[in-house]
Parts: sequence; structure tokens; C-alpha cells
Amino acid sequence: MNRILITGASGGLGTALAREYAAPGRTLLLWGRDRDRLESVAATSRAAGAVVAIRSLDLTDVAAAIAAIEADDAAGTIDLAIFAAGLGDIRAPGAHVEDAGQVARLGIVNFVAPAALASAIAARMARRGRGQVVLVGSAAAFHALPFASGYAGSKAGLARFADALRIGARGHGVSVTLVSPGFIDTAAAHATPGPKPFSLSPAQAAARIAAAAAQGRAHVVMRWPFAGLRWFDRLLPRSLRDRLLRALTPPGH
Ligand SMILES: NC(=O)c1ccc[n+]([C@@H]2O[C@H](COP(=O)([O-])OP(=O)(O)OC[C@H]3O[C@@H](n4cnc5c(N)ncnc54)[C@H](OP(=O)(O)O)[C@@H]3O)[C@@H](O)[C@H]2O)c1
Repeated sequence: MNRILITGASGGLGTALAREYAAPGRTLLLWGRDRDRLESVAATSRAAGAVVAIRSLDLTDVAAAIAAIEADDAAGTIDLAIFAAGLGDIRAPGAHVEDAGQVARLGIVNFVAPAALASAIAARMARRGRGQVVLVGSAAAFHALPFASGYAGSKAGLARFADALRIGARGHGVSVTLVSPGFIDTAAAHATPGPKPFSLSPAQAAARIAAAAAQGRAHVVMRWPFAGLRWFDRLLPRSLRDRLLRALTPPGH
């Protein structure tokens, strides 16, 4: 596992992933928007012995992002691609539904861009008969959160995409892992109101992701109570489930 791409490397989880993988003999391709934060993550990774290249780009320009991943892979084959970039948001206080523009952005950053990039790199990996793809979704994908329909919907789309890609790519030496975190203790998580039970530190989450990728696991839910909640949601009668989900809405939203 020598050449590793991490999107969202300027964020809380992405920074921890860079730290997890930075080692002599490794090349890290760190993507994000905030160049200063990317430079700082790059400096720490270089201090740990890795060779690092950063790329500042906005994933809402999907065509440019596809061209970038193809260029990065042509410059030296990517062994592991981790798509950790993502946007979180909830309905504005007092609004009945989420803002249409924000729902569009969530769809592009959380679903369209990672799915298109994973397709682009998986096609190249399949041609050489080896490679690993990791897509970071969310446990929110398991639930019809009325205050975060854009987020839950975009992550649900990503989950279904990851499963389908995994089945299609498996016979060509490419593993696809979906990661569904509940809560990770990052600044982004703090920006959302409400309690964050069973939270993982970014370092814990990164270590679990690295282990899941190394084992070629299909799906990892972290922590385990969120896997239980997924089944609870599926088994409850709809009217009761709807009432419970409405009750989870943060006050004022
Ligand atoms: N934290 C949690 O509790 C939690 C729970 C479940 C799932 N997740 C998922 O885990 C992943 C990482 O979350 P996090 O907590 O580390 O969030 P974060 O700190 O906000 O990091 C998000 C990353 O995504 C990048 N990003 C956002 N919009 C982008 C865009 N338009 N173009 C390019 N890059 C963009 C950010 O880049 P810049 O900062 O440079 O703009 C940043 O590097 C996300 O996919 C998130 O949905 C997190």
C-alpha cells in the first residue's frame, strides 16, 4: 500500500487518516479546499516520513475532480483511494424543509463526486487487477432524518452505490469498503446541535478505517450500537418510527 489518496484531508477525519498512513515509503495525495490546512497536514505527514502532494480543489466541479484523479493515477498508480470529504447540514431553525441549494450541494459533495471519483479510479484499478477503494458514508444513511433529509439522502445514495460497485469490482481485484460512522469528535460534528453518543476520536476512527480497508471489509459501522439502531429502524412499524424520528429533531429546527 504505497500510494494513497485521501479526499477531505483538510478536515477532522481526513487529517487523522493522513496521520494514520504517513510513514516512510508511502506517498500521500491529500485533497481538500483549504490550502493552509492541507499544507499543515502535509508538513506533519512529511515529518513522519511520507512523500506528500496536496491538491486544492472544489468537488462541486466534478469534471475537474475526475480529470485530477486520472492525472494523479497516471503519475503513479494509486493503491488505496479514501473518499472522506463530505458536507453535513441540518434544516435551518424555523424552516419546514431544507434549502434547495444546500440540498443540491449535499448531493454533489456527498454522493455525486465520491461516486464518480470512485468509478474513475476503480475502472483504472480493475484494468491492472488490484486496488482498494474506501467510501466514507454515515450511519445517518440508515434513517429518514426529517431535519437532515439532504444529508441522510446523499449518504444513503452513497451506501447503495458502494455496495453495487463492490459487487461489480470484486472479480477484478478491487475491494470496496463502505464506512458508516455514527459520530466522530471533529469540529464539524460540534457544529451540529444535539448529543453525540458513542463518539469516536478522529484517531480511533482512522485506525478502524485503516483496519477495515486492510481486511477488504465490505461495510464497517462505527460504533456498533449504530448497527443495532439500523435494524431497530427497519423493524419498527412506520408510524412509531416516524414519531421517534420527529422526536430526534433538535429543538428549534
Ligand atoms: N464527524 C462526524 O460525526 C461524522 C459522522 C458521520 C459521517 N461523517 C463523515 O466523515 C467525513 C469527514 O467528516 P469530518 O467530521 O472530518 O468533517 P470536516 O472536518 O468538515 O471535513 C470535511 C472535509 O471535506 C472537505 N470538503 C467539504 N466540501 C468540499 C468540497 N466542496 N470540495 C472539496 N472538499 C470538500 C473539507 O475541505 P475544506 O475544509 O478544505 O473545505 C474537509 O476536508 C465526511 O464525509 C462526513 O460526512 C462524519
